[in-house]
Amino acid sequence: MKAVVVEQYAPVDQIQLKDVPAPRLEPGQLRIRVEAAGIGFVDGLKVEGRYQTKDPLPFIPGTEFAGVVAEAPGRPGGYQPGMRVMGMTRSGALAEEIVVDPEAVYALPDGVTAEVAASFRANYLTALYALSARATLAAGEQLLVLGAAGGTGIAAVQIGKLLGARVIAAASTPEKREFARGQGADAVIDYTQADWRDTLKELAHGHGADVIFDPVGGEISVQAFRSIAWRGRHLVVGFAAGAIPALPFNLPLLKGGALLGVDLAQIPLREPDMQKRLISQLTGWLADGQLKPVVGHVFALEDFREAFRTMQTRSALGKMVVRIAP
Ligand SMILES: NC(=O)c1ccc[n+]([C@@H]2O[C@H](COP(=O)([O-])OP(=O)(O)OC[C@H]3O[C@@H](n4cnc5c(N)ncnc54)[C@H](OP(=O)(O)O)[C@@H]3O)[C@@H](O)[C@H]2O)c1
Repeated sequence: MKAVVVEQYAPVDQIQLKDVPAPRLEPGQLRIRVEAAGIGFVDGLKVEGRYQTKDPLPFIPGTEFAGVVAEAPGRPGGYQPGMRVMGMTRSGALAEEIVVDPEAVYALPDGVTAEVAASFRANYLTALYALSARATLAAGEQLLVLGAAGGTGIAAVQIGKLLGARVIAAASTPEKREFARGQGADAVIDYTQADWRDTLKELAHGHGADVIFDPVGGEISVQAFRSIAWRGRHLVVGFAAGAIPALPFNLPLLKGGALLGVDLAQIPLREPDMQKRLISQLTGWLADGQLKPVVGHVFALEDFREAFRTMQTRSALGKMVVRIAP
């Protein structure tokens, strides 16, 4: 089968598409014919060996995928050949086939394309867990989304609207702000401007943000916290800008505010029932059309490097997807 293979941790330009043997199917596992794989920020870090955990070499990158069950001896988890699924694993999705345990996949609602399914689970689960389970975002509250046109950011914009919040989307370019507005943001803001907090104050009608969704980090995070409303909740999601900010402890005191951590990787381990509830809410919204996840750009498997580059050069809108089967 064709697969992207990382033999040495390196920039994506040095990573090759290769012909490799298909993975072996162990009892109780499923073989999936992968149709599409989503590429996230973490995948780029893993290829370069810069993520907090390193995949042993050689490995096939790609954690999120959608496809069709090709083999399911004994019907593990009730799955059988021909069923369409979406899933998440530690690695291996940028390949024509992947072998997974049944717990790694969910059945796909009818009518959802492989591209949508492959770009859905990580970002939308992160956004829903953060906004609902951690910040208890209530209808009518004001939600500030930083990096709002990125993969997790645009998911937070859409989920924020579904939860009834007034969403203010912060992004660095007019194209990104327009993209966020098109996905439902009530107001947009250019947070590269020195006076962006004054603009935020006006947009939030002097009240501040009740909830801040923050996948960006760096100095922007501290500035944003300074604009939080009384009893506001600031969600620590990621550090796309590179620097991990340090918040002076007097600010939560003065603001009556809270800093809340969000870690997608720990939800299935620490809160498995919560994860099931949230996934079922997400797939319900998907199935009834209330949620239409955004696919950023779709690339052919041969062009996988371009998918990584687009994300790494801060030019991505939404999530990058690699189409694997025609
Ligand atoms: N906690 C969790 O469970 C979890 C889950 C998924 C992802 N994450 C983390 O969240 C972060 C964002 O992930 P994502 O998938 O949303 O990434 P993304 O699609 O690349 O979006 C990140 C956004 O950050 C902004 N940004 C600001 N400075 C940047 C810089 N120097 N380089 C790149 N982007 C910059 C960009 O928006 P502007 O250009 O508009 O500023 C960009 O759209 C990553 O650190 C990722 O590891 C965490």
